[in-house]
Amino acid sequence: MTVERPDHSQVMLSAIQPTNRITLGNYLGAIRNWVKLQAQYQCYFFAVDLHAITVRQDPKQLLEDTYTAIATYLASGINPDECVLFVQSHVAAHSQLAWVLNCFSYMGELNRMTQYKDKSSKSGKNIPVGLFTYPALMAADILLYDTNLVPVGADQKQHIELTRDIALRMNSVYGDDTFVTPEPFIAPSGARVMDLQNPTKKMSKSAENEKGSLFLMDSPKQMQKKIKSSVTDSGSEVTYDDNKPGVKNLIDLQVALTGRTASEVVADYQGKMYGHLKADTADIIVSELEPLQKKVLQYLDDRGELQRILTKGAGAAAEKAAETLKRVYDRIGFVGL
Ligand code: TRP
Repeated sequence: MTVERPDHSQVMLSAIQPTNRITLGNYLGAIRNWVKLQAQYQCYFFAVDLHAITVRQDPKQLLEDTYTAIATYLASGINPDECVLFVQSHVAAHSQLAWVLNCFSYMGELNRMTQYKDKSSKSGKNIPVGLFTYPALMAADILLYDTNLVPVGADQKQHIELTRDIALRMNSVYGDDTFVTPEPFIAPSGARVMDLQNPTKKMSKSAENEKGSLFLMDSPKQMQKKIKSSVTDSGSEVTYDDNKPGVKNLIDLQVALTGRTASEVVADYQGKMYGHLKADTADIIVSELEPLQKKVLQYLDDRGELQRILTKGAGAAAEKAAETLKRVYDRIGFVGL
């Protein structure tokens, strides 16, 4: 039962939900690293609009958020000539393979997913079925491209493990080379940006208190205000210390943005106060983000160019995805045309 599969170099794939606003944490922890990785691997990056509708979305907002996600990838340096950049709903094979994988996923294992438990507990009594089968669609996203590596945060590791389980289950029925089994990829240089109001928690797009999150498109004034009112710690000496998570977070932000070491940053603040650290950190963030914001707006202003880029990305993604889907359909015993 072996069908020749072309020999790929390592394939890397990741995606973000085009909902809420992208944070500085998403940028420093994920998107900026993808830019470095695109030269080393064969990369697929996309915006998962099908996943977004597992919770109610305002149509206009979803449309704008999806364009903004793509514009942000591009402004950050994702190069559509070097990797495949696209929108999930443009490639029908995602929905098609998701159905098949639904038939090979078990109620019990989907029920154990932490993200499902979290999100469904907030849905009241009408829990959308899509929220439950969300991981099968994510598995389809990954398996369609014979993906080796998936850069994700710790919260998504459980979904990658489930993807592996489903792939191995189908491989044992239909042949070992039906699916490539993916691994999570934790980037060595990925910065972990913490919430400004609650610095032991990761900065999040959907935090309860917006003051804790820096959004990529915040105005310089908003950013300065949020940094200024960030929670620091008791004491006044600037040290790099786990017991001072607020101060440490600001130092880490400077490290991530300037490439200097934590001890170099700390040395700047001998005999100075937290206020100095906050003011400088805000300046560094603003001067890094202002040019990026300009580029995002330029891309958003040129819908024709965005549309051209997305059409090309969808074409390349669909070509690869159709190959995988055909391989799976053939093995399942569907009549081919
Ligand atoms: N579930 C991921 C998240 O919430 C987004 C996602 C969807 C994804 N499909 C993916 C991430 C495929 C990596 C690979 O962040």
